[in-house]
Amino acid sequence: MSILGNRLNTVTDLLKKCENNHLFADIGSDHAFLAIEVLRQGLCKKAIAADINEMPLLKGKENAQNFGVDIEFILSDGFDNLEGLGITSAAICGMGGELIAKIVLRSETAKNALLILQPMSAQDELRKALWDNGFVIHKEVFVYDSGKPYTVMQVTFTGENTEYSYLDLFLGKERIVTDEFKKYCQKVLQSAIKRRLGIIARGESTDDIDNLIEYCQTQTTNF
Ligand SMILES: C[S@@+](CC[C@H](N)C(=O)[O-])C[C@H]1O[C@@H](n2cnc3c(N)ncnc32)[C@H](O)[C@@H]1O
Repeated sequence: MSILGNRLNTVTDLLKKCENNHLFADIGSDHAFLAIEVLRQGLCKKAIAADINEMPLLKGKENAQNFGVDIEFILSDGFDNLEGLGITSAAICGMGGELIAKIVLRSETAKNALLILQPMSAQDELRKALWDNGFVIHKEVFVYDSGKPYTVMQVTFTGENTEYSYLDLFLGKERIVTDEFKKYCQKVLQSAIKRRLGIIARGESTDDIDNLIEYCQTQTTNF
């Protein structure tokens, strides 16, 4: 049985498709439960847990010991101290979308690994940064965990930019209608209504945001 909740279980599900996964890195590992579970499921040969702060690394080391798994712990801002290690897959979860985008875009390692990204905010900023900079979002899964909707993205670098609409930025391109997607639409709808006020105050066109609001309302009616 997994030691993770729905949100991080979705990360391991999306990692299962990574063949020859020699070295997995969890960036912003905190408790290191993700790396522990990835090893427990045999989804990679070796795992690194990296964090910008010492305290989470100490906490993670203790948890890894308790579960009897061997993880390398590295103090690092994003991939900065992990470049050139031959990382084949990496997860960056539980951080803001803008920070995840910064970490990914400045890293060579990120261009050569399967990435699983789980932004807590600014998901539109992250999708934009990825599509404008040669990254492809192959799959996006909406998940509901402890009363909150989340999105988890499976991403690789191809060098080809992706075209997108305003709706794509806020809801991804797949938009498979599940209960989890509808919950996500409810959250996007709430922030779109607030965002619309700012657009009106700036005297800009509301066409795009009105389209987004209408789409979300359609998905969430009678839900
Ligand atoms: C909210 S926790 C998320 C933990 C775990 N990834 C999850 O999703 O449950 C965020 C962690 O990211 C770390 N962090 C923040 N900025 C970072 C950066 N630039 N590089 C590496 N770690 C970072 C924090 O120290 C913290 O441990």
